[in-house]
Amino acid sequence: MLDQLTGHEDPHPIYERLRAQGPLTRDNGMWLTTSHALANKVLRDRRFGVRFADGGYPAGGSLLPDSFLELDPPDHTRLRRLAMPAFSPKKIDEYRARVEKVADALLDRDEFDLIADFAAPLPISVISDLLGIPDSDTAEFADYGALVAASFDSGVTPEMSEAHDKVLALFDRLIAERRRTPGDDVISSLVAAEAERKLTAQEMLGTLVLLLVAGFETTVNLIGNATRALLDHPAQWRLFKANPDLAPAVVEETLRWAPPVQLTSRIAHERVDAIGKDEVVTLLLAAANRDPEVYPEPHKFDVMRVHQPEHLAFSSGIHYCLGATLARMEGDVALRALARRMPDLRQTGPVTFRDSVVIRGMRSMPVSRS
Ligand code: HEM
Repeated sequence: MLDQLTGHEDPHPIYERLRAQGPLTRDNGMWLTTSHALANKVLRDRRFGVRFADGGYPAGGSLLPDSFLELDPPDHTRLRRLAMPAFSPKKIDEYRARVEKVADALLDRDEFDLIADFAAPLPISVISDLLGIPDSDTAEFADYGALVAASFDSGVTPEMSEAHDKVLALFDRLIAERRRTPGDDVISSLVAAEAERKLTAQEMLGTLVLLLVAGFETTVNLIGNATRALLDHPAQWRLFKANPDLAPAVVEETLRWAPPVQLTSRIAHERVDAIGKDEVVTLLLAAANRDPEVYPEPHKFDVMRVHQPEHLAFSSGIHYCLGATLARMEGDVALRALARRMPDLRQTGPVTFRDSVVIRGMRSMPVSRS
């Protein structure tokens, strides 16, 4: 049934048909769950990982094989720990004023495309700055990020491999520069860790590519999906405009209701009940976020909702999104800026959607300030 999903239509009717089959079901030879409790349990259960017993990786290969997203402990633990300091709540808080400036500058316009002119450039600018990518290289990195994101759906195409090689070469150049002149950025701190033999050159590249792609391709859809949800629910938009401090609540409800990352998967490292060793379980995060056992009236977009337990938009367990604090802050800043600068924001033409099933969001949304 999952193969019927497209990036364009509402996926929830299909998720609900799968939910009706019970918490753990089989589709096309793969296990899957729509249950919040079960998805959370699998994500936290160390008997599951992201690699097959032979070290292989599912679903048409990967452009991020050396990144910790696609590694199990102990390598995952070691590499994640090296990237962690750059994303601590304290660091992100210090960063907020810069993000506010970027958001404000982007909104100096009247007629624009919400995605191309606001939701996409904001996280691109933020993560490039954090990583230490010069402005002159940002466009090339951005195009590449989109290709890697597409590889989550379709596997790796020759076009993607070519772009991947180009980006590795760009990172190689930046790494060489930071070896000569260290700065206050993530590349410099990883270069220092490499000098102390805490990670290999290949792992450093894998980490940088992961941070780049994870930072670009998800937050754009948080900002896009939140804005669309608000414009489609005028009472909620009015409520938010009257109480801008509801921004974190709007962010959480968007993450629950329209999560940018719809699904992920895990592999059983040993037999776990009905699931055999090396079998794949797909965790439908977006369906788990609308599990009626957890959220009353789950299909309703309601910014006043109490989120307990937390939605699974950032996953759970050891791979819980490292950039969650950053993404929440970017969403908060972007939505406050929109509400303050564009209280009469309106859609001026039809929305188009990405083709992607895994990373869900809009490709474009024409809007006007008044
Ligand atoms: C709204 C925006 C975002 C969403 C919805 C999101 C979602 C996710 C999800 C679902 C995972 C785990 C996948 C799995 O368990 O298989 C993840 C992991 C990760 N995310 Fe995010 N993410 C967002 C923004 C960011 C940002 C801004 C960064 C910063 C660079 C980031 C960095 C990462 C990293 C490094 C991992 C891998 C963590 C690990 O494997 O230990 N994410 N993210």
